[in-house]
Amino acid sequence: MPRVVVFDQTGGPEVLRIVDEPVVEPAAGEVRVRIEAFAVNPLDQLVRAGRSPRPVRLPHARLGVEGTGVIDALGPDVAGPAVGDPVLLSALPDFETRGAYADYTTVPADRVVPRPAGLSVAGAAALWVAYFTAYGALVEKAGMRPGDHVLITAASGGVGRAAIQIANQIGAVPIAVTRHSAKRESLLAAGAAAVIATDREDVAESTRRHTGGVGADIVLDAVLGPGLADLSLAARLGGTLSAVGWLDPRPASFPANPSLTLHRYMAFADMVDPKVTGRVAAFLTAGVRTGVLRPAVDRVFRLDDVVEAHRHLDRGSPAGKIVVTT
Ligand SMILES: NC(=O)c1ccc[n+]([C@@H]2O[C@H](COP(=O)([O-])OP(=O)(O)OC[C@H]3O[C@@H](n4cnc5c(N)ncnc54)[C@H](OP(=O)(O)O)[C@@H]3O)[C@@H](O)[C@H]2O)c1
Repeated sequence: MPRVVVFDQTGGPEVLRIVDEPVVEPAAGEVRVRIEAFAVNPLDQLVRAGRSPRPVRLPHARLGVEGTGVIDALGPDVAGPAVGDPVLLSALPDFETRGAYADYTTVPADRVVPRPAGLSVAGAAALWVAYFTAYGALVEKAGMRPGDHVLITAASGGVGRAAIQIANQIGAVPIAVTRHSAKRESLLAAGAAAVIATDREDVAESTRRHTGGVGADIVLDAVLGPGLADLSLAARLGGTLSAVGWLDPRPASFPANPSLTLHRYMAFADMVDPKVTGRVAAFLTAGVRTGVLRPAVDRVFRLDDVVEAHRHLDRGSPAGKIVVTT
């Protein structure tokens, strides 16, 4: 019997349990996907822990906003995807009922995109949300261009490593921020032009040093919290800060740079727009084909070990995405 991960109450990783459930037949306009792997995202962690940005219907909620697999069945009136096609699941805002933590899910046909060739299953599972977010915030929102200096916080994580690679693909100059000097070499190896380790360096001062005294054209911030004021001073006069995440749960400080343009970027809002999704898919497919985009996978777990996968995320500091295979 196919497996589904559900939770009846919020709490620690142990609230996740695996149940057997029959597959759901796809309705008109839907496809069923046999899931091969899914990524464990910080959003899943917030939802599981009871800190979801929106209310989640309990009990028996599913989890997981992205994944990869193969089309297994088509509902009536589906044009495009065919049985057997390898796909990525794009945006599951209704993860409580369709979540990717399972052997199968059934989704509207426009929520799948072709899986770029040349990726392992784990690599494909690590691609969509992280790269969509980094691309959307940097290119769609902040208009990143070749030569731009781009300061990237939480650069060791899934979105951060994606942002480093995307900046390189565009010809921009990625400057990575980590809290730990010990991660410097790994971030240089991941493609960062420079690394700022905040256990030893001041972020604004070091950014000026790496940008000829000017400051960063764009700051991609996945952290927020009280560090936002200092971070804003790392941007050049008239620079842009795109805030994508909230890894620091403490209240954010007010940006201290008065000339800064500040954006909040939410990838899910763009993922329902077929034009943006088409652009992102084309960019990612080209980047994977040329080898510039290589999703970093921190660790791979089996579905039966999903609780361990969440414990690993709770410990913090993954180097890339945590992936679970079915
Ligand atoms: N806006 C959107 O559409 C969207 C989409 C996807 C993700 N997100 C959000 O973006 C953020 C990053 O996601 P992700 O998948 O890249 O996360 P991730 O892979 O879990 O990132 C982990 C890295 O972030 C750094 N970090 C963790 N806690 C931190 C803290 N309190 N202060 C500073 N750095 C911290 C650590 O790097 P070091 O140890 O090297 O410092 C860690 O290795 C999350 O908040 C996530 O919810 C938003």
